[in-house]
Amino acid sequence: MSESVASGGERLVTELRLSWPDEATAQATAEKLAAALLPAPNALIELHGPLGAGKTTFVRLLLRALGVEGRIKSPSYAVMESYELPGGAGTANHFDFYRFGDPREWEDAGFRDVFAAPGLKLCEWPEKAGQLPPADLQLFIELMPDDSRRVRAVGDARLVGAVE
Ligand SMILES: Nc1ncnc2c1ncn2[C@@H]1O[C@H](COP(=O)(O)OP(=O)(O)OP(=O)(O)O)[C@@H](O)[C@H]1O
Ligand SMILES: [Mg+2]
Repeated sequence: MSESVASGGERLVTELRLSWPDEATAQATAEKLAAALLPAPNALIELHGPLGAGKTTFVRLLLRALGVEGRIKSPSYAVMESYELPGGAGTANHFDFYRFGDPREWEDAGFRDVFAAPGLKLCEWPEKAGQLPPADLQLFIELMPDDSRRVRAVGDARLVGAVE
């Protein structure tokens, strides 16, 4: 069950806890989220969690569920990888801000424009970007000693409700 934890103006923010014993369970969550995002994904989704938590893995599962074929690279060095979603569903941009240090790079790389435009933005290490607009969904992934993942989903009630 999801519970409503805060109401920020017109937007209802909800929180939900999930358990991913394995990648197959994470895939089921990705498929539910993809269904809620389609037909025209337009959201900022933050992926929080330590190194190896499974952030890139979840992004890959989500992009696959949205119909992306071919190689899905980790954007660690390029910071951003862009995908055209099939069926005219728009653009998805995958960010990894782990090595992002220089705020001037934000302008130079055109990220201001990317975040101002519609489309799906998936951000690993969002806290290192320093200047992201408010997220529609935040996933906090915790790696457990038995290799399972505990996940807290916080954000827009419709998106959180979709992954329940
Ligand atoms: N839900 C899951 N269940 C089991 N194993 C997983 C799961 N998600 C990821 N893994 C495994 O954990 C490893 C690290 O995953 P991943 O690269 O996605 O982490 P990350 O959070 O993106 O790390 P980084 O901060 O370095 O970018 C991979 O080998 C992957 O197969
Ligand atoms: Mg990663």
